[in-house]
Amino acid sequence: MIHFIGPRIKDYYDICSIINNKAMSRVKTLGQFIIEKQADFPYSKGELSRLLRDIGIASKIVNREVNKAGLADILGDAGEINVQGENVKKLDVYANEQFIAALSAGGECCAIASEENEDIIIVENEMSKNAKYVVAMDPLDGSSNIDVNVSVGTIFSIYRRTTLTGPGTPEDFYQRGTEQVAAGYVIYGSSCMLVYTTGKGVNGFTLDPSIGEFCLSHPDMQTPKDAKTYSINEGNYVHFPDGVKKYIKYCQEEDKATNRPYSSRYIGSGVADIHRNLITGGIYIYPTTSKSPNGKLRLLYECNPLAFIVEQAGGKATDGSRRILELDIKELHQRTPLFLGSANMVDLACEYMKKYSTSEV
Ligand code: AHG
Ligand code: MN
Ligand code: MN
Repeated sequence: MIHFIGPRIKDYYDICSIINNKAMSRVKTLGQFIIEKQADFPYSKGELSRLLRDIGIASKIVNREVNKAGLADILGDAGEINVQGENVKKLDVYANEQFIAALSAGGECCAIASEENEDIIIVENEMSKNAKYVVAMDPLDGSSNIDVNVSVGTIFSIYRRTTLTGPGTPEDFYQRGTEQVAAGYVIYGSSCMLVYTTGKGVNGFTLDPSIGEFCLSHPDMQTPKDAKTYSINEGNYVHFPDGVKKYIKYCQEEDKATNRPYSSRYIGSGVADIHRNLITGGIYIYPTTSKSPNGKLRLLYECNPLAFIVEQAGGKATDGSRRILELDIKELHQRTPLFLGSANMVDLACEYMKKYSTSEV
């Protein structure tokens, strides 16, 4: 009997290797994809590819920490010392530090603007000071959801600097969203995904934790032109402009021909709400309110990158009347109202704004 076991084990390994090879030939990692796409930028020497790689590395580290967030009480709360004697940081501070560290070590960006820092961070090492790119980011978006095990994200936006050499300056960031060379987000959800664009469509990668790689799972993402989901914090209803109030009422009306009433979906993590709407279609609105007369979301590192992605997927993004990507930017932390998502839904919401709220945007 025993002499049959040898060949059978060999057969088993042969079959496994055929299955694995087949699976591997279907898998394309983020690294492989970036190298393939480098040909889209004939004058680039690979710096942008390396920047995207650095962002991928930082997001894996942040994902690992997000997955442990529920253990904070066991391992130690923010500001405390955990059982290993380490200082425990708030996750948004931790994420900020990880992205800054990865971008600084990579040497391809000369300055970083972050939601967590009042001023830009100048990357001062020898490699970086003459680097071509600057990166704006929201290292942890939806931070109020960390403690309740709900998806959070990271948003990033990459520009070519406008000053030619020397340390990066704030002016390098004062560019319209149309000038972005790449933008993306990472969603730390039931799985971790990285979605990005370089202006040639949108591609999504899901982290396979067993091999530690982002794998292409959502090639050439397209968002539906029409849909039946609206996402807005309706608790602020009384403070909304009339155009938004009327548009919400439109979404709630019964009308079989247009599939109404629509569904209301609001997670409160912009990345998660917008990721869902990107895939299934829908509109995300964060309008002006009396508490936030300019809107709440930031143009540089929230609205512009998300608008770039959504437009590249066939959707639209406005501030209620003007295209987000064409807004002038004068401050790093400038805010804007945001109407973003399925093209026909955004158009209609803007028509309501024009009709009922002309003076309010
Ligand atoms: P952040 O956590 O980076 O401050 O961003 C939170 C943003 C966005 O993610 C979300 O859609 C929105 O704020 C939620 O705001 P409300 O709680 O006011 O609805
Ligand atoms: Mn945010
Ligand atoms: Mn944030």
